[in-house]
Amino acid sequence: MLADRRILLIIGGGIAAYKSLDLIRRLRERGAAVTPVLTRAGGEFVTPLSVAALAGAKCHRDLFDLTDETEMGHIELSRAADLVVVAPATADLMAKMAAGLATDLASTLLMATDKRVLIAPAMNLRMWLHPATQRNVATLRGDGILFAGPGEGEMACGEFGPGRMAEPLEIVAAIEAAFGGGPLAGRHVVVTSGPTHEPIDPVRYIANRSSGAQGAALARGLRDLGAWVTFVTGPAAVPPPAGVEVVRVETADEMLRAVRAALPADALVCAAAVADWRVAKAGTAKIKKDRKGAVPALDLVENPDILAQVAQMAEGRPALVVGFAAETDDVVAHAEAKRRRKGCDWIVANDVRPATGIMGGSENAVTLITAEGREDWPRLSKDEVGRRLARRIAEALGAAG
Ligand code: CTP
Repeated sequence: MLADRRILLIIGGGIAAYKSLDLIRRLRERGAAVTPVLTRAGGEFVTPLSVAALAGAKCHRDLFDLTDETEMGHIELSRAADLVVVAPATADLMAKMAAGLATDLASTLLMATDKRVLIAPAMNLRMWLHPATQRNVATLRGDGILFAGPGEGEMACGEFGPGRMAEPLEIVAAIEAAFGGGPLAGRHVVVTSGPTHEPIDPVRYIANRSSGAQGAALARGLRDLGAWVTFVTGPAAVPPPAGVEVVRVETADEMLRAVRAALPADALVCAAAVADWRVAKAGTAKIKKDRKGAVPALDLVENPDILAQVAQMAEGRPALVVGFAAETDDVVAHAEAKRRRKGCDWIVANDVRPATGIMGGSENAVTLITAEGREDWPRLSKDEVGRRLARRIAEALGAAG
C-alpha cells in the first residue's frame, strides 16, 4: 500500500529519534521512498550517517546549504513528497508549526509544503500537558495536521504518562490511514456530538454541560483509521476535527434530520448529549419580565430520540449502532437497560457525577456494554478512549463484513 509513496521524514531532537531509524526501515520495507531531514537537535540523538544509510537517500540538514539549493531547493523538497511526517515531533517543533515560524530547514519545509502533514509528538509528560503545548495541539488539529499518538506509558526520563512517541508500526498504520488504506477505508461512520440548544425565545435556550470533547476524539480516531466520517455536532466547546464532514446543528430536531440525511452508514455513534425536552412553543419575540413578578410557564415536550429511532429502523439500519449513557448512579444497570430499551448494539457508559470531573473534563472512565457482556476500561484521556473505541468499531465492522 505504501509502494512508491514518497515520504519526507523530519526527525526532531528527542530521545525517541532512535525509533525513527526503525520507522525508516519499516517504511522502506513497505516500498515507500523516504527523504530524511534531520534537525540540528535531532543530530544530537542519531547520526546523519545512520539516517542516510537506512533511508538510502541524502540526509538533509541545512536551510542555507548551497549544494542543496542548486540540486533541489527547500520549496521543491517540501513538495516532492506525498506526505510529510514529523517523528519525533518535539514541543519546540510543534510550537514553531503552530506559530508559523520558519527558522530552520524543518520548520521552513513545514511552512512551504502543500502536502498533508502527520506528526508523532514525543516529549516529557509535563511538556505535553503544558497549556502552551495543548494550545498548539488544538491549533495544529484545527489546521488539519494529522496526529499519530502520543501514547501513554513509561518514558525515557523515568516518568509515566502521555507524551511517549507512538511505536514505529503505529506510525506506519497512521501513514497508511492517511493514504486511505486504514481498516475503515471506504466505511462511512456518522457521529453525533456536543450538546443541543433548545430555544426558549430568540435569545434564551436550554442547554447542558457537554463539551463535545469525547465525540470529537472519537471522530478523529475513526478518521485516522481511514473512515469517512460525518460529524453532526451541536454547539460544542471544542472545535470539530479536521478531515471529517462537519454538519452543524442547534436543536435535537435538526440533529435527527442531519443524521437521517447522512445515512446510509456502516455505523452510527451517538455521543451527543441531546436535550431530552424542548419548549413546546418557543417565543418568536424575547419574553419580557412581568411587572407583577409572575414567572413564565415553560411547557416542555419530549425530543425525538435519535439513537433509538435509527437503532430501530426497519430498513437501512447501520450495521453497528452505538450509544453513550451518562449516568450518576447504578451506571451499569441503567446503561444495560438503556441498551435494550433503545435497541442499540453497544452502550458506552460513563459516570458523570460532578466529583468524577468527566463531564467537561479531558478524561473519561467508561464501561463498554455489548450483547456479549461488559468491559470496564481504565480512566484514560478522552483521546485514548476515542482511539480505542474507533479500533473496536473497525474490528466489529470487519467481522460483520
Ligand atoms: N440520545 C439521542 N437522542 C435523544 C436523547 C439521547 O440520540 N433525544 C442518545 C445520546 O446521544 C446517547 C444515548 O441516547 O447516546 C443516551 O443518552 P442519555 O442522555 O444518557 O439517555 P436518555 O435517553 O436521555 O435517558 P435518561 O435521561 O433516562 O438517562
